[in-house]
Amino acid sequence: METRSQWGTRAGFIMAAVGSAIGLGNIWRFPAVAYENGGGAFFIPYLFALLTAGIPILIMEFTMGHKYKGSAPLTYRRINKKAEWVGWWAVLVAFVISTYYSVIIAWAISYSMFSFNLNWGEDTQAFLYGEYLKLSVDPGQTGSFVPGVLIPLIIVWIVVLGILFKGVKKGIEVANRIFIPALVIIFLIIVIRAVTLPGALTGLEAFFEPDFSKILDPTVWVAAYGQIFFSLSIAFAIMITYSSYLPKKSDITNNAFITGFGNSSFELLAGIGVFSVLGFMAVQQGVPVDEVVKGGVGLAFIVFPQIINEFPAFKELFGFLFFASLVLAGLTSLMSITETYVAGLVDKFKISRTKAVLFGGGLAALVSLLFATQGGLLFLDVADYYINQFGVAFVGLVEVVLMAWVFRKLGEFKTHANEISDIRLGSWWTVSLGVITPIVLGYMMFGLFKENLLKEFDNATGNYGEYGDTFILFSGWAVAVGAVIVAIVLAVIKWKSNPELEDDSSKGGE
Ligand code: ALA
Repeated sequence: METRSQWGTRAGFIMAAVGSAIGLGNIWRFPAVAYENGGGAFFIPYLFALLTAGIPILIMEFTMGHKYKGSAPLTYRRINKKAEWVGWWAVLVAFVISTYYSVIIAWAISYSMFSFNLNWGEDTQAFLYGEYLKLSVDPGQTGSFVPGVLIPLIIVWIVVLGILFKGVKKGIEVANRIFIPALVIIFLIIVIRAVTLPGALTGLEAFFEPDFSKILDPTVWVAAYGQIFFSLSIAFAIMITYSSYLPKKSDITNNAFITGFGNSSFELLAGIGVFSVLGFMAVQQGVPVDEVVKGGVGLAFIVFPQIINEFPAFKELFGFLFFASLVLAGLTSLMSITETYVAGLVDKFKISRTKAVLFGGGLAALVSLLFATQGGLLFLDVADYYINQFGVAFVGLVEVVLMAWVFRKLGEFKTHANEISDIRLGSWWTVSLGVITPIVLGYMMFGLFKENLLKEFDNATGNYGEYGDTFILFSGWAVAVGAVIVAIVLAVIKWKSNPELEDDSSKGGE
């Protein structure tokens, strides 16, 4: 009988957890989310969400993975047989995210190549939608494949699945040990260059200037929680899976603090870098900063190329470094997202890691092809919105309510973490998970359901206002509800291994 895979070193685990957390969410999502939700004032809900939900849940997930030594479905099952489906639900949310996350990395690969000749020209918006994505179909239609996206997408999957084939220690750990330091160095170069550009201060003022009128707006709080969950890789099976590979003697709490604060520091650094260059561009064009900011896709793939066009020197190099940083940050996160279902399949069906990577990763790669079509961007936008709101955030709520109130596990988890960690957990942790998070998150989810079920679907995602309500309604709910249904089906299937026996179900991959 093989034993469960293990990280080689503590630093290796931390690097992998940080690598999972730091991703596209930090570089292209955070700056725009913070700016749209009150700038400096956003930091209040953001810090609140980090300290009362983000880090406490991270500690809980690390403890769950370490204590029960299983992928998310196995861990939930070991806590209570009836809860297995929640583990699968989290895994399926991760599965959906991986299918489009990979595509954004593919775009970043293309754009890092485009940087060498500044192929995007002067009209960067027309280039993205027209020449690159060939977005000329009606909402809900796929059109044909776009080779410019398809080829880098295949490369992304070959790299990620290749690393996962090699296993936890020789694959994921080694890759993170190379990619993460490289990312930090590249990003520091970018930020130092950014803050020394003329106009940087104008951008930073716009970023940090607090708009306190927004602080009582519930949508700002939803945005803060959403950002923390996505960015910390919590509530989508990842951190449970990663910590299940920890050796018996491991620190839990300290590792969680390092991961949480490391991720937020990087996020803040990204905000500073992005807004410095936005300030630079605004000053060049003689317009206020809010006229040059765009969210999501627009920020990285329309505004950044524009900024690069206006750079005083080394345009090509700066462009390449920026998109390369997106690729590196994205790849280390995609590995962790994909590992959730690889581990789930290995545990439940007792198949080898190779088979699980081939089957799970292969299926995700196949589904991701949908987003490499002419209509791909619209599907991507809808999947992203729904799976984040009704996937990640909702799983998070169910997870804390189950552990705190239904199975009443917090006391046990606290003892487990305290026995092996440097930092001891106090009432801050229990109150955050048992009271604050369920109330705030519950209130938010209630509001979100009310808004989405009762209101007309009016540009739910806000990015591309053109597509019809029906399209959003059907594809969005199909994804969110589909994840729950498939999760229940998977939980009903009989185990090929004995989940009650530690290590029987979990084959190593080294
Ligand atoms: N945590 C990853 C990110 O921020 C998923 O992109």
